Amino acid sequence: MVFSYTWVFINRELNPKNMKTNRLSPTLTNLLNEQITLEAYSAQVYLMLSSWADEAYLDGVSAYLFQHHQEEREHMAKIIEYIQERGGKVTIDAIPAPGKEPKNLLTCFEMVLDQEVINTQSIYNIVNAAMKESDWATWNFLQWLVNEQREEEKLALTLLDKVKLAGGAQISKEGLYEVNKTLSRIPQSFELADDSDSLV
Ligand SMILES: [Fe+2]
Ligand SMILES: [Fe+2]
Repeated sequence: MVFSYTWVFINRELNPKNMKTNRLSPTLTNLLNEQITLEAYSAQVYLMLSSWADEAYLDGVSAYLFQHHQEEREHMAKIIEYIQERGGKVTIDAIPAPGKEPKNLLTCFEMVLDQEVINTQSIYNIVNAAMKESDWATWNFLQWLVNEQREEEKLALTLLDKVKLAGGAQISKEGLYEVNKTLSRIPQSFELADDSDSLV
C-alpha cells in the first residue's frame, strides 16, 4: 500500500505537466536578465576606461579598472547561475556601447561612480520586486549584491576624493603620478569587494 502511494506520488511529480521546475516569476526573471546585461555593460565601461587610462600612461589606474571589469563579469556569472539554479530561463542580450572616453582622470572616476550608482538602483529595484512577491530566496541572494555595491560605491568615492585632493580637472603631472602610483597598490592595500562580509 505504501509502495503504491509512493509510486503515485513519484509518477505525478515526474509528469511534466505537474512539475513546477521554474521557481522564478516572469517579473523577477526579466529583471534578473536585465541585470545580467547591466553587469556586462558595467564590465564594458570599465574596459573602455582601462584602455583610456593605458593610453594616457596611467598604468596603475588602467590595471585597477581592468581588475574591476573582471568583478563585473563575476557578478554577471553569479546571476546567470542563480537563474539557472531556480529553473529560470537565462536570456543573453546585446550589450550597449560604453559611451565616450573621459576627458581627464576626474571625469573617468565620475563615470565609474555614475555607473555604480545606476547599478545599485537597478539592484534595489529587484530587491523591492522580490520582497513584493515574498520570494525570499531571491531576496536573500540579492543581499550579496547589495553589499557588493556598497563596497564598490565606497571605492569609487575614494577614487574621486583622491583626484579632487590632487587638483580635480586641473590635476598636475605630479598629482597624476601620485594617484597612479597609489592605485597601482590598491589590490594590496584595499579590501576587494568580494572579500567583504556578506549577509549570505
Ligand atoms: Fe556589478
Ligand atoms: Fe560594480
